[in-house]
Amino acid sequence: MKNQIEQLKRAKNAVILAHYYTPAEVQEIADFVGDSFYLAKIAKQTDADIIVFCGVQFMGESAKILNPDKKVLMPDLTADCPMAHMVADGIIEEMRAKYHDLAVVCYINSTAELKCKSDVCVTSSNAVKIVKTLPNKNIFFIPDRNLGSFVAKQVTEKNIILNDGCCPIHAAITGSQIEAEKEKHPNAPVLSHPECEAEVLALSDYIGSTADIIAYSRNSQASEFIVATEDGVDYKLISDNPNKRFYYPDPRPCCAGMKLNTLEAVLSVLEKEDKEITVDEDVRHRALIPLDRMLEFAK
Ligand code: 13P
Ligand code: SF4
Repeated sequence: MKNQIEQLKRAKNAVILAHYYTPAEVQEIADFVGDSFYLAKIAKQTDADIIVFCGVQFMGESAKILNPDKKVLMPDLTADCPMAHMVADGIIEEMRAKYHDLAVVCYINSTAELKCKSDVCVTSSNAVKIVKTLPNKNIFFIPDRNLGSFVAKQVTEKNIILNDGCCPIHAAITGSQIEAEKEKHPNAPVLSHPECEAEVLALSDYIGSTADIIAYSRNSQASEFIVATEDGVDYKLISDNPNKRFYYPDPRPCCAGMKLNTLEAVLSVLEKEDKEITVDEDVRHRALIPLDRMLEFAK
């Protein structure tokens, strides 16, 4: 299968992008593997004719918004991020009416429709920097209350209003699961994704995006780590650090949407080109504004 994928990729001038949460065998054959921010930048820069995006819907959608002339395919169009939809109807308009200088800051884990109503997008690797840079005092942070509250703790000069959305996978990790791992591995620093609940972040030695967690463990002198994020990162952590040990909360966090990106599905979509991401042209134009602003601000 890997050889067939390689041949089709070359014949069709296709590029495969994969998130760190996808299955190991997909990360193995991908041309670029990264966190959401890195993959968005690559999607904008590539000169391939076809982008095969192994991730969840909002990632493929962002790639299409940034790159309308390319064919963006996903191995499984049903791979979704539940958090991307977690903003109640009318609440953005309500907040805008309440605060005249409001900036709606939209985590990239959101639908294109939500991006259309937002001022700027962020990812977990640049949210603090971008919110700090905004001239607005009042910020409505959607959809993730946990990333929003992590940002609020570091940008205390702003009034950050939280929205009641979260990642069900990260929110399911509890403080007692982390305590249990710490008891078994007392010398292991805890590395967490900011989508985790405050009780988990309070027990953490380092908080960052998937790429930040990977970089931290590569540069750290420690030989073992407790990792509070989706277990797909294990592939990169182990390949970068074959002599280090990585432990996860029990049960190991697993994002069902990400795991739909199987090798079979990648081969099939490259053969048939049948699972194409489409975005309505008006939506695309409006959603491009906050995405482009993110790329600009993050420079
Ligand atoms: P990263 O941007 O850190 O890779 O996170 C994406 C994501 O979906 C986290 O759940
Ligand atoms: Fe969405 Fe959570 Fe899966 Fe990330 S891990 S894609 S936030 S459901």
